[in-house]
Amino acid sequence: MEFKELITKRRSIRKFGSAIGHEVLIDILKEAQQAPSWKNQQTSRCYVVESPEILESFRAAALPSFNQKSSANAALIVTTFVKDVVGFNDGTPANEIGNGWGSYDLGLHDAYLILAAKNAGYDTLIMGIRDAGAIREKLGIPENEEVMSVIAIGKRAEDPSARPRKDLTEVTRFF
Ligand SMILES: Cc1cc2nc3c(=O)[nH]c(=O)nc-3n(C[C@H](O)[C@H](O)[C@H](O)COP(=O)(O)O)c2cc1C
Repeated sequence: MEFKELITKRRSIRKFGSAIGHEVLIDILKEAQQAPSWKNQQTSRCYVVESPEILESFRAAALPSFNQKSSANAALIVTTFVKDVVGFNDGTPANEIGNGWGSYDLGLHDAYLILAAKNAGYDTLIMGIRDAGAIREKLGIPENEEVMSVIAIGKRAEDPSARPRKDLTEVTRFF
């Protein structure tokens, strides 16, 4: 898909018809790894829940009911980052942002991921409203990783129109 078309056509999808095959998921995850990161430290991590048996109980434990409903039929990718690495020099924050840089890198990674998914013919929903404690316990995520988002991925079963964006002049200043 043309890049401009990709950007224009991506939407958050809240109704999925079917999940995604394992091999395509691998391709998308590899493309997401091409995102830049602080000193190329690559602290972004993915936990992919694709088995239908696990998905049902995982969704119930990890998500509020509205996000459970929106992500029905989709596979789920939990994204985390390893703390105290990116943005740190020998354990000392390089500047005032600290672990915000790990979060920044993961955001870039996830942006690549949702665009790679779109390019492969799949759609996504990033969910920040989730139960991090339940997710950590269910997937055995270590304490040195920060649990961030749960990304639903699958074939869309709705065609929402584009959500409005602020005028560029409201969010940008040129000097
Ligand atoms: C960090 C982040 C967290 C989000 N969390 C949720 C969520 O928990 N549930 C949900 O339905 N949408 C969630 N969204 C989706 C946004 O509502 C959506 O991206 C926004 O309304 C713009 O719509 P668009 O993605 O279709 O352009 C989240 C998006 C981001 C980037």
